[in-house]
Amino acid sequence: MRILIVAGVFLIPLMGQSLRELADQRGIKLGAAVDPSHFAEAAYAEALAREFNQVEPENAMKFGPIHPGQSTYNFTSADAIVAFAQAHGMSARGHTLVWYNQLPGWLTSGGHTPAQLSSILQEHISTVVGRYAGRVYAWDVVNEAFNGDGTLRSYFWYNSPGIGLPGTGYIEQAFRWAHAADPKALLFYNDFSAETINQKSDAIYRMAQDFKARGVPLDGIGMQMHFTTSTGSLGSMEANIKRITDLGLQVQITELDVRLPVNSSGVATSAALATEAQIYHDIVAMCLKYARCTAVQTWGFTDKYSWIPGTYPGFGAALPLDSSYQPKPAYNSIQNALQTGRPVASAEGLVNAASYRGGAIAPGELVLLFGATYGPATLQFSQLNSSGAVPAEWAQTRLLFDGVPAPLLYSRVGQVAAVVPFSIAGKTATQIEYEYQGLRSEPMTVNVTTAVPGVFSFDSSGQGPGAILDASYRLVSRDHPAHRGDSISLFITGGGVTSPDSPDGQISTTGSFPALAVLPRVSIGGVDCSVQYAGGASGLVTGVAQVNVLIAAGVPSGEQPVSVSVGDAASQPALTVWLE
Ligand code: G3I
Repeated sequence: MRILIVAGVFLIPLMGQSLRELADQRGIKLGAAVDPSHFAEAAYAEALAREFNQVEPENAMKFGPIHPGQSTYNFTSADAIVAFAQAHGMSARGHTLVWYNQLPGWLTSGGHTPAQLSSILQEHISTVVGRYAGRVYAWDVVNEAFNGDGTLRSYFWYNSPGIGLPGTGYIEQAFRWAHAADPKALLFYNDFSAETINQKSDAIYRMAQDFKARGVPLDGIGMQMHFTTSTGSLGSMEANIKRITDLGLQVQITELDVRLPVNSSGVATSAALATEAQIYHDIVAMCLKYARCTAVQTWGFTDKYSWIPGTYPGFGAALPLDSSYQPKPAYNSIQNALQTGRPVASAEGLVNAASYRGGAIAPGELVLLFGATYGPATLQFSQLNSSGAVPAEWAQTRLLFDGVPAPLLYSRVGQVAAVVPFSIAGKTATQIEYEYQGLRSEPMTVNVTTAVPGVFSFDSSGQGPGAILDASYRLVSRDHPAHRGDSISLFITGGGVTSPDSPDGQISTTGSFPALAVLPRVSIGGVDCSVQYAGGASGLVTGVAQVNVLIAAGVPSGEQPVSVSVGDAASQPALTVWLE
C-alpha cells in the first residue's frame, strides 16, 4: 500500500502500482514537463519521481532561456533538471532547439544575415546538444514549423530571415547538426494539432517520408496533444500513429493535457473530470498498441503548475494530479490503461538465441523474443522447478506455442528467452502468443521447419569467434587457438528434435543425453570435419546441443569460418574459430 504524503502529512492511500512502476513494465517512457524552481517543494519532487520515469524542461532548454546572450549560455535550470533525472533514475528529454517562440532579443533584433544565423544556430545546437550528450536521450529538434493548412510557418529560422535554406531544408539541417553533436540521441520533430490525419499531419508525414528516404537523422514524431474535451477522432489519430510507425519511426506523445472549464477556484465538474479521464485512458491505451509509440508525456503533472489557466482563462484542471498532488480520475484511468493494455509482440522480434536470425523456428530451439511491450521492469532469471526443469511460466510471463507454454529462461519487458516446445515438430506453422500478468498479445504466426541451427558465439552477437571449447574445456581463441586433429566442442540451438524425444525444458545432468535425431555436418574453413557427437550435455537445457568435431587435417590456419548444417539448413555466416 503506497501512501501519498503532502507537506509531511499522511493523506490518502494510493492504490496499486505507481504510474512509473507500470510504465517501467511497459518499457515506455511516462514523462512530465517540469519547472526546476519547484524541485525544492517536497510534494512536487516526490510525486514527480514516484509517478514518472522521464522529465522534460517546460522552458529551461528553449533558445531564449538557455542562450540569453550571443556568447552567454545559462545552463543552471537545464542542469538542475538533468541532475534531478539522474538522481532519480529517470530519463531526460530535451525541448526544444528550433522554435519560433522564446527567442532572445540579441538574436531577433541583431540584424544577422541568413549565413550568420546559420552559424549561430549550428553553434547553438552543437553547444546545447553536445553539453547533454549521453544525459538527454532524445530532443525535440524542431518545434511547430507547419501551419494548419500544411504550409511551412513563416518565421525567424525559416524565411524571416531564415538560415538560407528553402523548404524543409532548414529543418533537415538542424537535424543533421543535432545528430553530429550527439549521434546517440533520438531526434524528433514536434508539433500540435497534427494528431489526427489532416493537412498539417499530412505535410509532416510527407516530410518524414522524405527524410527517411534520404537518410536525414529523424527518429520520430512528437505529438503534443493539448486537448479540450473534444480531441478529434481517436480512429484518425491511431491511423496517423500507424502510418508514422510503419515508416519505422517512433511516435512520442509529448505535451498531453486536457483543459476543462473550471469555476473561479479552478475546480472542474465531475462530469468534465470523467471525460478527461476517458481521454487520458484512450490516449495511453492507443499508444500501448504500437511498440514504436515509446512515450506518453504530460505538460506538467499537477494542476498546481500548468500553462493552461494563464493562457486559457476559465480553463484548467488539465493534468493527472490535482493542485494538492492527489490523483484525479485521470490518474486512475492512466493507471488502468497501463494495467489492462494487451502486450504487443511481433514475429520480427523472434530470433534464434545463438544466431540472432529470425524467420522459421524449429522444435526445441532456444529463442529470444525482443520488443514485447509488457513485462517485468527488471530482468527475472527463472529458477528450475521441483523436477529440475525450466519452468513454463516465470515472473507472470508465458510464451505460448499453439497454446503450449514454452520453458522460460528469463523475462523482462522487451526481452524474453524461451525454448520452443518440441510439440510443434511436424507442423508447418505455429501460433505464438506472449502473455504477461494474464494479458495476451495478438497471436503471431511463425513458420515451423525441422532445423535452423545457430552456433553460440563468444560475445553473444552471433558473429565472430564461437563459444568453442577444446578437449580440456578451455575456450578456443586467438590466444588459445585450436589445432588440426583436435577435438573441439561447439554449442548450437535449433538442431531440431532429438532421439529419443526430449522433455521440454529439462536440464540434463547425469546419465545418457538425447542425441540430435539428424547428425549435423560441420565445415571449418570450407573443409568438412567429422562430427563425433551432437546432442545434450550436462548442464544444458534440452534444445541446446553440444557438437563435438574433429578438426580435419586440411583446415587452414588463422580465423576460419565455422558452418554447421542440419539437413539443408545451415548456421549463420561469420561465425569463426581460431586455428594455429
Ligand atoms: O522567465 C520569465 C520571467 O523572468 C518573467 O518575469 C516572466 C514574466 O513575463 O516570464 C517568464 O517567462 C515565461 C516562461 O513561460 C517561463 O515561465 C514566458 O513569459 C511565458 O511565455 C512562457 O510560457 C511558456 C510557453 O511555452 C511559451 O510559449 C509556457 O510556460 C510553456 O508551458 C509553453 O510550452 C509550449 C511548448 O514549449 C511547445 N508547445 C506548446 C506549449 C504550450 O504553449
